[in-house]
Amino acid sequence: MNPAGGPSAVLTGLGTCLPDTVVTNHELASALDTSDTWIRSRTGIHRRHLVDPGTATSDLAVEAGARALKSSGRSSVDCVVLATTTPDHPCPATAPQVAARLGLSGVPAFDVSAVCTGFLYGMAAAQGLIAAGTAERVLLIASETFSRLIDPTDRTTAPIFGDGAGAVVLRAGTPDEAGAVGTTVLGSDGDRADLIVVDAGGSRQRTSRRRADHFLRMDGPQLFRQAVERMAQATSEALHLANWQIRDLDRLLTHQANARITAAVAERLHLPADRCPSNIAQIGNTAGASLPLLLAHAVRTGQLHPGHRVALAAFGAGLTWGSTTLCWPELTVLEDMQPQP
Ligand code: UT7
Repeated sequence: MNPAGGPSAVLTGLGTCLPDTVVTNHELASALDTSDTWIRSRTGIHRRHLVDPGTATSDLAVEAGARALKSSGRSSVDCVVLATTTPDHPCPATAPQVAARLGLSGVPAFDVSAVCTGFLYGMAAAQGLIAAGTAERVLLIASETFSRLIDPTDRTTAPIFGDGAGAVVLRAGTPDEAGAVGTTVLGSDGDRADLIVVDAGGSRQRTSRRRADHFLRMDGPQLFRQAVERMAQATSEALHLANWQIRDLDRLLTHQANARITAAVAERLHLPADRCPSNIAQIGNTAGASLPLLLAHAVRTGQLHPGHRVALAAFGAGLTWGSTTLCWPELTVLEDMQPQP
């Protein structure tokens, strides 16, 4: 039982998918007024994976979802939750198509929109479904083709973002089991929505003559400050709810927005930097997909072991933020899969 009275959500599968195409800083710098040195020193990013034309968010989601199901040892779930900022279409949601392509037609399937915090908002939704008895097993996928929102000629955003997907399977269990997810702390501040936004394409402004309105614009320095403050605070709250001290924490996995943000969060929490695995160098900021991709990276590189006490923290547009905790379970994590459009 969890504090809400129902079963706990226990992580039992993990899978990822990265597109084939890799773009290095040097390649970007040949077409943009930027440099490998600037991008590395300001963000920690060396390269990113980008989807080719014709590949959609659902294509990445299906592959990551299939991998997570395989990793869990079972092909069935009772619900599919898809966290994404870049659905295949404005209408309908993408999750039902992903479920159908995974052979899960008939189960409830819905999208969650919380941008870079999408995985944790989706986690809270999955926990709620399991605690309420609506589902015993949930496939939670975070999939983003964020490059679709980025103006490739804008040096303030083009170097930052990459595409990818990660997925987990959660099953009903008990809070003392390895993999049981603790209470998920979430927050939002819509008064600061303007700090990172795509102006056109929604009901406020369906289309715009201004090309820039269809692309993401952001106030990087303001977001930087908010990201550090919100992720540090949310992590402290999640640790408190788990009854853990900071010294109990083996790994803190933060949304990979900027290597300097991760370092600043660790410093604020008085956590040694080597307890914060990072994959931003290899894949950049993959928005909602960032945390499950980082979990898989940490396992594959031997930085995350069964029994490790882990906190996850995210921050993103909205603004939104969140954090949760779990003890890392025994899990088979397969190699990355490439998308099949
Ligand atoms: O995913 C969650 C939401 N996103 C975030 O949390 C992002 C948080 N913010 C950041 O990661 C950083 O603010 C950025 C990486 C986006 C920007 O780094 P910064 O150190 O805050 O740079 P800045 O925006 O203050 O710009 C510094 C300078 C400016 O030039 P001047 O005015 O000093 O002459 C920019 O025009 O760097 C310039 N600049 C660049 N120069 C070369 C901005 N982008 C580039 C670029 N290459 N790509």
